[in-house]
Amino acid sequence: MEERRLLVLYGSQTGTAHDVADRITREAKRRHFAIRTLPMDEYNVTSLIHERLAIFVCSTTGQGDPPDNMRMFWKFLLRRDLPSASLSGLQFAVLGLGDSSYQKFNVVGKRLQKRIEQLGGQTIHDLGLADDQHDLGVDAVVTPWLSKLWDTLLEMYPLPPGQEIIASDVCPPSKYKIHFLDTQNGHIDHSVQSQSLSSGSNIAADAQSNQPVASATPSSLCPFHARLISNLRVTHPEHFQDVRLIKLDITGSAISYSPGDVVMIQPQNSPDTVDEFISMLNLDPHRRFKLQQNDPDVPLPPHIPNPCTTRWLVTHYLDINSVPRRSFFELLWYHAGGEPDSDAELEKEKLAEFCTAQGQEELYNYCNRVKRNIREVLQDFTQTCARIPFEYLFDLIPPLQPRAFSIASSPSAHPDQLHILMAVVRYRTKLHLPRLGVCSNWLANINLEDEDTESNAGGEKVTTVPIWVKRGTIRFPSDPNVPLIMVGPGTGLAPFRSAIHERCTGDKGGLVLFFGCRSESKDFFCADEWKHFTQEGLLKLSTAFSRDQEEKIYVQHRIREQGALLWKMIHEQNAYFYIAGNAKSMPDDVKEALTDVINKHGAMTETEATLYVQQLEKSRRFQVEAWS
Ligand code: 2AM
Repeated sequence: MEERRLLVLYGSQTGTAHDVADRITREAKRRHFAIRTLPMDEYNVTSLIHERLAIFVCSTTGQGDPPDNMRMFWKFLLRRDLPSASLSGLQFAVLGLGDSSYQKFNVVGKRLQKRIEQLGGQTIHDLGLADDQHDLGVDAVVTPWLSKLWDTLLEMYPLPPGQEIIASDVCPPSKYKIHFLDTQNGHIDHSVQSQSLSSGSNIAADAQSNQPVASATPSSLCPFHARLISNLRVTHPEHFQDVRLIKLDITGSAISYSPGDVVMIQPQNSPDTVDEFISMLNLDPHRRFKLQQNDPDVPLPPHIPNPCTTRWLVTHYLDINSVPRRSFFELLWYHAGGEPDSDAELEKEKLAEFCTAQGQEELYNYCNRVKRNIREVLQDFTQTCARIPFEYLFDLIPPLQPRAFSIASSPSAHPDQLHILMAVVRYRTKLHLPRLGVCSNWLANINLEDEDTESNAGGEKVTTVPIWVKRGTIRFPSDPNVPLIMVGPGTGLAPFRSAIHERCTGDKGGLVLFFGCRSESKDFFCADEWKHFTQEGLLKLSTAFSRDQEEKIYVQHRIREQGALLWKMIHEQNAYFYIAGNAKSMPDDVKEALTDVINKHGAMTETEATLYVQQLEKSRRFQVEAWS
């Protein structure tokens, strides 16, 4: 058995790679591999030289960056002093997960593959490049890739004598075990509930040791519970989009940040969706339980209080409003079924169909195309719902992921505060109800007067938001005399609001901002601030109101109009050029406009201008932060 050891390492930002890694784990166990599955950064990378067989699953995020939970692993692997044959004993395969609407499609998977090969690793399977843009999602590549991988692996490592592949209808063991505690006369155990709500408490530390680490720098394991100061709507009430300027109080948090940094927010599900889920599964919201390991290689999730209540779990941990992945249907199937021809059996047949290769398109149309979420799917499978064992909720439903926002405040201008500019996500599909983004709707709907919020010692209502800060992709030069050209349509404005306030607090100018929105009267947010800095002579503002006239005007039109000035700033004053905002075509269109400006005003050929921009990019004088 020893030589049939398989290591699965994943780098996952939004949970897709994690889900695929879990699927590989289940499939490997059915084939009797001894398997270990970990996020890359939880694996001791120096042990890689002793491994014989590994599968890497990694997503590419943002501008071609590795996910947060593989950054240290990746950095180590890139070290120049690693001997070139250090991984010569390793047989491996890489499965990359990406999105071809981004410029650097699957670049992390490609680089990882190349680097391990450079270090002597031997590929046993073609690099897999899954694409979220595919009509059937990443599964269109993952499923055939895995099927070929198992063929190869079973040829290399045949099943031990007397063993067969475990039939796919045998339910795999749950990740964790549950030990229910008695409810206290049917009431919530307030010691558990208060862990989630009390300002500044550390759930992870409380869960494990009851020792809050108040002074530690907040992290995903130990977020700071920031008080919500305000969540002001900054677009006109009649404008189609609700954008909020959210202000958080970070007094006493040990959080420090610079312009360009990003705040991570751990959201929670709205009370109405939590209530609905709890009643649909006929759960007791106040029931307390302890989570226990069921497999020594699968650690407990660190940020669940132990003991926990069902309501806490559904509010803070289970992503009940996410679109289910294929594994959800696979796992749900095990718990479905009943008498022949019964509704329960019909549900099981439907689930089985969704899990076949032929059923993929139907599944895509049922879920992904219309963004039907787990809660809504369960409404369609009521018979099955009633049969889901509680401990399987952890296998079926992925954990709620933190959301990243560019910080929109400046440490100098807004001491002890942290601001974000956030579009409230709400859109329609063919389904009857609108789709609501979990985090943005939670934040937008926090009523500062709400009964649900906790009272502090003085009886004042306090609402807290779990946060921590990480470095963003954008970095501003430390020399405040270097001119900045910033292009930030819509909420792309956020990091530039931070940088502009930071500079202007020190009375330093040299700032040019290109802002674009639909209409001057509807979504020109923070207009007074720009007016003020413009009057002070610190900022030059150029606006593009796309729908205030017949012809669309975008920021790139303004960039072309201001070409002479921009060329002078870039060429003579070494200005930095930044783009932030929606990932669609805006960043590429702006880059093209900049290239045109250099072409025209720098009297260069198109090729020379393109090279010039590439050079700016290399020296970090051209930076992009884009999101979808
Ligand atoms: P539109 O919605 O009228 O097309 C912020 O979203 C602003 O960015 C809006 O004015 C939007 O215009 C504009 N925008 C949309 N696509 C763009 C692109 N490719 N380049 C620049 N701006 C764009």
